[in-house]
Amino acid sequence: MERIRAGIIGSTGMVGQQFVRMLDEHPYFDLVMLSSSERSAGMKYGEYVNWSLGNEMPEYVRERELKRTTTEDIKMEDVDFVFSALPSAPAKKIESALAEQGIPVFSNARANRMEEKVPILVPEINSEHLGIIEHQDFQKGFIVTNSNCTASGLTMGLYPLLELGVSSVNVVTYQALSGAGLTGVPSLAILGNVIPFIRNEEEAMEAETKKILGKFDREKGRISELETPVHASCARVPVINGHLENVSVEFQGDVNVHELVRIWKNFKGPAQELKLPSAPESPVLFMHQEDRPQPTMDVYAGKPERAAGMVVSVGRVRKKADNMVNFWVLVHNTVRGAAGASILNAEYAFRKGIFGERGIC
Ligand SMILES: NC(=O)c1ccc[n+]([C@@H]2O[C@H](COP(=O)([O-])OP(=O)(O)OC[C@H]3O[C@@H](n4cnc5c(N)ncnc54)[C@H](OP(=O)(O)O)[C@@H]3O)[C@@H](O)[C@H]2O)c1
Repeated sequence: MERIRAGIIGSTGMVGQQFVRMLDEHPYFDLVMLSSSERSAGMKYGEYVNWSLGNEMPEYVRERELKRTTTEDIKMEDVDFVFSALPSAPAKKIESALAEQGIPVFSNARANRMEEKVPILVPEINSEHLGIIEHQDFQKGFIVTNSNCTASGLTMGLYPLLELGVSSVNVVTYQALSGAGLTGVPSLAILGNVIPFIRNEEEAMEAETKKILGKFDREKGRISELETPVHASCARVPVINGHLENVSVEFQGDVNVHELVRIWKNFKGPAQELKLPSAPESPVLFMHQEDRPQPTMDVYAGKPERAAGMVVSVGRVRKKADNMVNFWVLVHNTVRGAAGASILNAEYAFRKGIFGERGIC
């Protein structure tokens, strides 16, 4: 299979590095362009980047020159599409400008997620939402986003349960430091501490969850959000990777814990049916142990190897009333909650023929 040419804008940060790691020898995508801010453009990736993912920086990027993140510079690299790991402010303008120039964007940034015609795609949950790109106003390109890191864990745990009739959801998060980016939280502020505030996070988690779980009307080109109330409270904790979330779900009728566990264990979606390279065999792992999931032990759950970190782990499910349960969810915030989610979206779009020969259909 001939690979198509991919770029990463914002390639040097926390999420950018996960992209670089996960795109090494990717079967569909050939990573040919890496960009960053003006501060580092022109330098070699291996010289500038402070690699933060444990193992060695992959050899294939060390000698690559960092490009400027402008439409002109990116067009010169002849990419078929880009992944975006930019902060929200610069992402807003450049992502639209690239799409306008015929370069599709798969974005992690918050900037365009809640735009009416932009999907927050999760192939296991709402693959049909990809159809909304036909209604975007760009000449040739398009923008597809993946969700905020916390919403990616919550929606994967929650979606399979919707068939039982859910009447409200309450979630409390314990979010890792890598979620704030490479230079996000000063060590003196977080060591031995918990910060019960993350700017814009609760609002984003609530709104994005409802959009992801909403219904797509193809003719009208509209996604109508889930009406079920979702309430979030978010805290930053001194953990490196992995957001833990405590979820309380109220159902319309009585529920049985064994039934919930059966539903999670059997859950699969189009990403699994298509055997996408970054799709885990099962997107939800139910853990029976009384003290799991835990970030240090479970954050890289997922098989095959390329899908490590793409599983959302669920555990400690307890009945609190006839119609109410509480459980814990763990998501790798820079893999399933960021770079891995974006790569899975691009793999799904690729297999659906959204990319034509050297460009989009
Ligand atoms: N971390 C997570 O868990 C997570 C999860 C989901 C979504 N996200 C989202 O993903 C995006 C990236 O997050 P991150 O954690 O990787 O951030 P980060 O570590 O701060 O990295 C930001 C990247 O953007 C580049 N950049 C900054 N300002 C720029 C500008 N004006 N023009 C061009 N490039 C610029 C940086 O380049 P330099 O190295 O040159 O500064 C770096 O490559 C954000 O929108 C974030 O909200 C993050």
